[in-house]
Amino acid sequence: MNRAAPAPLANMGEPAPRVDARQKVTGEARYASDFPAGNMAYGYLVTSSIARGRIARLFLDNARAVPGVLEIFTHENTGELKPVPYSGGGGGAATSMQKLGPEVHHDGQIVAMVVADTFEAAREAAGLVKIEYRAEQPSATFGSPGAVEADGSEVPAKTKDLPQAGDALNALAEADAMIDVAYGTPTQHHNPIELFTTTCVWRDGELTVFEPSQFVYGLKAGLAKALDMPADKVRVISPFVGGAFGSKAQVTPRSPLVAFAARKLNRPVKLVATRDQGFTIATYRAETRHRIRMGADRDGKIKSFIHEGWELTSRPDPYAVAGVEDSARLYGFGAVQTHVNLVHADRNTPGFMRSPPVVPYIYALESAMDELAAELDLDPVEFRRVNDSMTDATGKPWSSRSLMTCYDQAAERFGWKDRDSRPGSMRDGDWLIGWGCASAVYPTHVGAATARVRLQANGEAHVQIAAHEIGVGVRTVVAQTAADQLGIPVSAVEVETGDSALPPAPVAGGSNQTASCCSVVMKACEAIKARLSQPPSTVGSGSGGGNTLEDQFKRLGVGAIEEYAEFLPPGGKPDTIKKLYAGTPFLGGGSQGEKLMYALGAEFVEVRVHALTREIRVPRMVGAFAAGRLMNTRTARSQYLGGMIWGVSSALHEATEIDPRNARYVNDNLADYMIPVNADIADVDIILVPERDDFVNPMGVKGIGELANVGTAAAVANAVYHATGVRIRQLPIRLEKLLTA
Ligand code: MOS
Repeated sequence: MNRAAPAPLANMGEPAPRVDARQKVTGEARYASDFPAGNMAYGYLVTSSIARGRIARLFLDNARAVPGVLEIFTHENTGELKPVPYSGGGGGAATSMQKLGPEVHHDGQIVAMVVADTFEAAREAAGLVKIEYRAEQPSATFGSPGAVEADGSEVPAKTKDLPQAGDALNALAEADAMIDVAYGTPTQHHNPIELFTTTCVWRDGELTVFEPSQFVYGLKAGLAKALDMPADKVRVISPFVGGAFGSKAQVTPRSPLVAFAARKLNRPVKLVATRDQGFTIATYRAETRHRIRMGADRDGKIKSFIHEGWELTSRPDPYAVAGVEDSARLYGFGAVQTHVNLVHADRNTPGFMRSPPVVPYIYALESAMDELAAELDLDPVEFRRVNDSMTDATGKPWSSRSLMTCYDQAAERFGWKDRDSRPGSMRDGDWLIGWGCASAVYPTHVGAATARVRLQANGEAHVQIAAHEIGVGVRTVVAQTAADQLGIPVSAVEVETGDSALPPAPVAGGSNQTASCCSVVMKACEAIKARLSQPPSTVGSGSGGGNTLEDQFKRLGVGAIEEYAEFLPPGGKPDTIKKLYAGTPFLGGGSQGEKLMYALGAEFVEVRVHALTREIRVPRMVGAFAAGRLMNTRTARSQYLGGMIWGVSSALHEATEIDPRNARYVNDNLADYMIPVNADIADVDIILVPERDDFVNPMGVKGIGELANVGTAAAVANAVYHATGVRIRQLPIRLEKLLTA
């Protein structure tokens, strides 16, 4: 065992290397745009240069004159295409040429696609498309003239019926100590290394689509609707996804457009959107604002928690994540009041981005926890211990909760007991040292799923499930599940994923995939085992008393056993599986059921802030996480590691900058969009805390893909406060903010 492959503790699986590791490192793994097709044509997008207004005239002659150009698709010749509707995960109307016609709702909206014989010709022609606009003054962000605030309780689903308990205002007034603070988080873009690509091939009226996807059945259904054709004539193939983080979970307008173009031209069409186009044709993490009021007794018991959020969205779409659903349950708050507001501006519609509700909302809560602990002169860890509770303010119990175990293990490893609590008191030469901590939390989701498993007499198994390998290791944990269940080595299991011709799995979002896919594969394997162990009398002819796999197959008189299984989690309805086939996933869990199901963790961070230049470094971090059963300690540690690194990015580096005059993203490239590099990340120590929870799902798995980047930004911010005595309440914390504070 090495550090990357931690020895499994109780309720943890072996650190099996990824079954597709070799394919990935050798370049053998085929990503969507790698698939060849004969006589391919190439698309290149033209996007709007204004954020608000309408197209008055298109000048396409110069573009058409470029040799090799086949067609230019605009709102004028794509009328048959149905619009891509807004859906809960983001994207939708604000990026949809088909719906908007000549209207422009945001900068970088798709307004045309040139298709040519070569990529170069398409790109050259795209540069020659001229558009005359009737431009209006756009609203870029919070506080911009023309941005419209809407009460979240008036829009559907997500922001209605948020947690409330007791009389929080009254309890606040009676508290011994209280804070009333505001926080803000910036726009972020996922920037997966693999760009947004779509390749469409038609054959005999059937469409095959190669596109990186977190939900192949959803994409298939969405395309069928947009193209007004039966879904069973559409197949989506996406065996490997080069990073997604929520950005590839929805149907976005480019996909039907490419399919439409390929049908019109009767040729395969490939589109690889550019990095900067990815900022506006897909989704992103919305800016948020928060006001938190929190009051406690002298002994630290919190009596009142009031959390109000504001989230930026597009003009037409009501996207919101409403993370008060989670922040209001993290501790035993006496009384709770929550509210969410939407702010509509001239921007593309935001959407899911790794840990969508909790990253901004828990940053705010965990910063506020540190502030109130300081106000009470309590140690931040002890303050959380005082408010640790097995029920939330509404009385709902947790299925399991190992938060303080995580704190204790991480604090011990970090050396927290040596902390001098006075801000600015710890110093190493010119460097001010700060130690901070915060909680990580993520709802445990589990979705309806189906799978087919075939076991052969020679001991080889084949698993088919339309799961999504977005870098998380789903093939590996599914192979481990089947191997474990069937009593064969992992190397004897072949797992096929990423194809809508396979039995459907849920969207690879909300960290549900391992729980859902392993649960259904386990069910199929159990059915196989049941058939294998049928007594000889009921199966007739076979004979022989041995009990090897071969003997068992001999008795049954078959060469292979295949079982198809459907898994329906609690809360699922009779038509849930049918809906899954039709492209609508069902995800239960989190705060929705009779118990609160969440994975938890504690993160400790040391920062060093230079006394003169205010440069901020993060020399070490410790994270301890408890998430039920871990299928694979290697892939689990890897998820946590990546999550915490992204958390540092949120804290210190990342923000999409917006020009307020034009409502335009300025740093829409990987040179100017800041993320940590190796030199920014030193020691990251991950502790896997054993936990068992048989309630959450049959596998006892809590999702971990989105857990670890929750809370990190607050831990860093709290450490910066400890180092300097300065609270920065707007992310990212860049040194200029410390210089001017
Ligand atoms: Mo994750 S943002 O739910 O893909």
